[in-house]
Amino acid sequence: MVKVRKAVIPAAGLGTRLLPLTKALPKEMLPIIDKPTIQYIIEEAVESGIKDIIIVTGKEKKAIEDHFDSSFLLEETLSKKGKLEELREIRKISQLANIHYIRQSEPNGLGHAIWCARKFIGNEPFAVLLGDTLVEEKKSCLKDMMELYDKCQNSIIGIKCVDKTDVHKYGIVDVEKENGPVYNIQSLIEKPSQEQAPSNLAIFGRYILTPKIFNLLENQEPGVGNEIQLTDAISALLKYELVYAHVFNGKSYDIGDKLGYLKTIIEFALQREDLEKEVLYFLRGIVAKRSE
Ligand code: G1P
Repeated sequence: MVKVRKAVIPAAGLGTRLLPLTKALPKEMLPIIDKPTIQYIIEEAVESGIKDIIIVTGKEKKAIEDHFDSSFLLEETLSKKGKLEELREIRKISQLANIHYIRQSEPNGLGHAIWCARKFIGNEPFAVLLGDTLVEEKKSCLKDMMELYDKCQNSIIGIKCVDKTDVHKYGIVDVEKENGPVYNIQSLIEKPSQEQAPSNLAIFGRYILTPKIFNLLENQEPGVGNEIQLTDAISALLKYELVYAHVFNGKSYDIGDKLGYLKTIIEFALQREDLEKEVLYFLRGIVAKRSE
């Protein structure tokens, strides 16, 4: 039985929905209170049992690399000042996983970004965690998908139900019902209109893929937005292999647009013991004033 040991985190998008902020800062570095988004994602991969990670970066990668590198000056200063808790926290970041980087030189889409990682992955199954999608902590969706992979040895796509009016934002799958939360995928379509969408089951940012996908990505014609779409390559994969859909019932957060980002910060603050009371008090105050 082959196990999933590696993950790809695509983080090369232009972040156009968050401009001008993302002009020089990758959206994956946006802070969710005191941690950048991508750190939560790497922690999720590590908690699921993955230690080897490749981040596909775009033009601005320095901030990401610096964050996961050790920082001698900072560590020495914290140590001298006796700030041992902070020191432990900082050291933990650089020891989280074996993190590698590759650059996607042109913004050719998600499918092309994944293809850029082919040499690192080699001929084994791998996980994909989109760099702008967070899942509710502790309910590791990826871990469930990896356990499922151990049993079926086929590609698995994480899906969630979305509102019909939102299907145009996602890859949408058509499924045949199976046992429990797992479906057999019949077809996939990237960002369909409401009329074209075969369901309201959306790909939300977690995948386990077999290495066969790389050949298909290599020959994949550009699709929606004139980009090489991962969804189209998975659609082609269906001709050769079964692909499963795993329903995720926990919450997911899209930090890639302004409202999604704001909501994420508020929800995460409300989940933290050190902030919950004050933030709630603050929010209640605002709502009360607004309804006066
Ligand atoms: C990508 C995928 C899409 C998926 C979405 C989830 O689109 O292409 O299939 O549903 O992520 O966020 P993007 O949001 O990068 O346009």
